[in-house]
Amino acid sequence: MSQAVSKIKALTDHTYGTWNRQSAWTTPLLITDAEGVYFYDDKGKRYIDFSSQLMCSNLGHKNKNIIEAITKQAEKLPYVAPAFATEAAIDAVEALRSVVPEKLSKYFFSTSGTEANEAALKMVRQSKAPAYKVISRYHSYHGATSAGAAFTGDPRRWYAEQARCVVDGVCFAPDNYCYRCPFDMTYPDCKVQCARYLDYMIKEEGNVAAMIVEPVVGTNGRIVPPPEYYPILRRICDENDVLLIADEVMSGWFRTGKAFAIEHWNVTPDILTTAKGATAAYTPAGITVSSEAVSNYFEQELFCHGHTYAYHALAASAIPAAVAEYKKLFASGLPQRTSQYLEQKLFELGDKHICVGDVRGIGHFWALEIVKNRKTKEPFDTKADKLSGKALMTAQIAGNAMKQGVYMAAWYDTLVIAPPLIITEEQIDEALDILDKSLQIGDKEAVETDVAASHSSEYK
Ligand SMILES: Cc1ncc(COP(=O)(O)O)c(C=O)c1O
Repeated sequence: MSQAVSKIKALTDHTYGTWNRQSAWTTPLLITDAEGVYFYDDKGKRYIDFSSQLMCSNLGHKNKNIIEAITKQAEKLPYVAPAFATEAAIDAVEALRSVVPEKLSKYFFSTSGTEANEAALKMVRQSKAPAYKVISRYHSYHGATSAGAAFTGDPRRWYAEQARCVVDGVCFAPDNYCYRCPFDMTYPDCKVQCARYLDYMIKEEGNVAAMIVEPVVGTNGRIVPPPEYYPILRRICDENDVLLIADEVMSGWFRTGKAFAIEHWNVTPDILTTAKGATAAYTPAGITVSSEAVSNYFEQELFCHGHTYAYHALAASAIPAAVAEYKKLFASGLPQRTSQYLEQKLFELGDKHICVGDVRGIGHFWALEIVKNRKTKEPFDTKADKLSGKALMTAQIAGNAMKQGVYMAAWYDTLVIAPPLIITEEQIDEALDILDKSLQIGDKEAVETDVAASHSSEYK
């Protein structure tokens, strides 16, 4: 056994691999370096990061200005208890206020997206009591803890439920998933039934305090709704005195072209949660920000929440630097150009490969939905297959791309195309040339039909 392999084994033998049977947590790649849109393993092999790791390294790797900000803070004051004020927290809030919708004015800092949603749940349940129910959607992921898992629609919740690791009072609304409409209708004839049904659901359900949405669904499909969807949802929430929580953990931070995805529809939520891109993954930070209507409740009531690492100075120090980098990047015009380029190239790829059923997304946030048959939309794999340990078609395609130097996350039905926003046209070509070859694996098992790949996000 080589030295490197035995070092990795010492890690895998003594740690829990995430979201995995532990027997499969055996040979992770040892990553030793990263720069820009590339990362490198211990053998010096280069990989283009086509999913920004977990859709969080939005500014690429080794950004000098962010590293400098963190280093300075580490030297000056890495940590004090959250009851003290720090310059790091003051600067982070100031930077956030320059990009977050103005109506959202009161912040809480934690260290992950999951915790950001946990804090939102407490804000909702305390301020809206006795109403306590939260409506979520099936195509969603909102975190790993009991509250996060309960909000989550995807099959990770099934596991958490079996282990009784969920909170109660969450119900699920129909998805705005036009490629596989839950009402089997077509836009615009559907009159956006998925949104309108919410009014009926809230009234019949009773005790509904909030609805949580990923404005553009992340892991579970990069689903972009029709233009009316969020304005209708906002109206229904207002009419029924229900709070709207936008979980922008993945869709935030310019991933979709705007600071926060919900801004595409001129809608402001009552609570916004975010993490990942807030620091571009240089430090772990979670952020929950609420409207004044929510925060007013806690003026005289106890906000019964906190963590040792709330407002952690080192975590917060990356935020102003990341915000400055996003502003600089968008002023250069590069992401605006490359997102259009990426869209056009992905549509071409969809036209070419019979295993691509739908090409959808926005900005630098795209899905190729992989199917056996474009006409019937028969999938290769299902939600249940994802947790069964079956070798999924999407994983085979992504695995092949990885061998050829392109890292891409995959879900049970889609490939995740979400490169860092600093990617250039040439680098997109480099990655897509490899993806083009890898998609042949799906083509070999797909059925030839006369139906073209659909572009279900074109309603945007
Ligand atoms: C939409 C969304 N919410 C919440 C989370 C949980 O964030 P974290 O993994 O930082 O706890 C994620 C993670 O991928 C996410 O995509």
